[in-house]
Amino acid sequence: MKGILLAGGAGSRLYPLTLVASKQLQPVYDKPMVYYPLTTLIEGGVREICLISTPQDLPRFQQLFGDGSQWGLRFDYREQAKPEGIAQAFRIAASFIGSDPVALILGDNVFYGGDVFARAFADFRGGATIFGYHVQDPERYGVVEFDAHGRALSIEEKPKQPRSNYAVPGLYLYDNEIVAIARDLKPSARGELEITDVNVEYLRRGTLHVHRLARGFAWLDAGTSTSLHEASAYVQTIERRQGIKVGCPEEAAFRRGFIGLEAFRELVGRLPRCEYRAYLESVLDEAGRS
Ligand code: DAU
Repeated sequence: MKGILLAGGAGSRLYPLTLVASKQLQPVYDKPMVYYPLTTLIEGGVREICLISTPQDLPRFQQLFGDGSQWGLRFDYREQAKPEGIAQAFRIAASFIGSDPVALILGDNVFYGGDVFARAFADFRGGATIFGYHVQDPERYGVVEFDAHGRALSIEEKPKQPRSNYAVPGLYLYDNEIVAIARDLKPSARGELEITDVNVEYLRRGTLHVHRLARGFAWLDAGTSTSLHEASAYVQTIERRQGIKVGCPEEAAFRRGFIGLEAFRELVGRLPRCEYRAYLESVLDEAGRS
């Protein structure tokens, strides 16, 4: 499966932070926000990644990730000239997707907990797989309604009167039908190609699978200054308590076997002396002992 990391948009809700660096490059505790969704893709076994951002911000991401080979990845970079909707990503990346299935992840979605996503990637057989997460304020999101058997009945984008408390987080797995579906999509009333309209189409075709995420799972929003701060505090709490790092692409690439022990050792050796390097050295030591 290929991956799209969508990291464009105006980021206006984080002004003035976003004057010189895009939202997805802001720190969530000890690393750039985009490291977290990237790690989710790596944990799902995705190696070929198309990063889409604005013409101004794309060079920053290229600086951050290069061609991705240091982590056993392959990066392709594409511009989104204007933020005309999340589903526009599939048009921009059509030649990158080719005839493969594809996972789209939003560059500002931070997930933590368990292996539910990794399993969803491994179990993916076709159609679409999306997720439902219980939230207090569903009207801010795509909202999925379930029947008594847990099957999805409807999906609506930011409904004024939500039919459930289940929001759809920003990770979507699609078969190759997505290319044609995105091509035929019409802009919504707010002038965007809506990801919710894609999911509604899969629902209409009877090929949409919606996994409800369990209570222990964390989906953090980092879209406003307050939620960005809270996301940082959450990550700090987990990392300090457990002595592990959340959203660490180097570690994920190593654990997933994208890079071997020697390549990992070299990579760590090239990092400046800092707390991040010390952590990766501890991962290395542990791997060397086992
Ligand atoms: O976070 C999950 C939610 O994301 C879903 O529940 C909604 O169904 C979905 O529409 C979306 O809602 P948002 O209101 O959060 O979308 P937003 O416009 O904030 O865009 C989400 C991210 O995608 C943001 O980091 C910017 C990026 N983006 C967005 C658009 C519209 C782009 O890169 N290009 C775009 O054209």
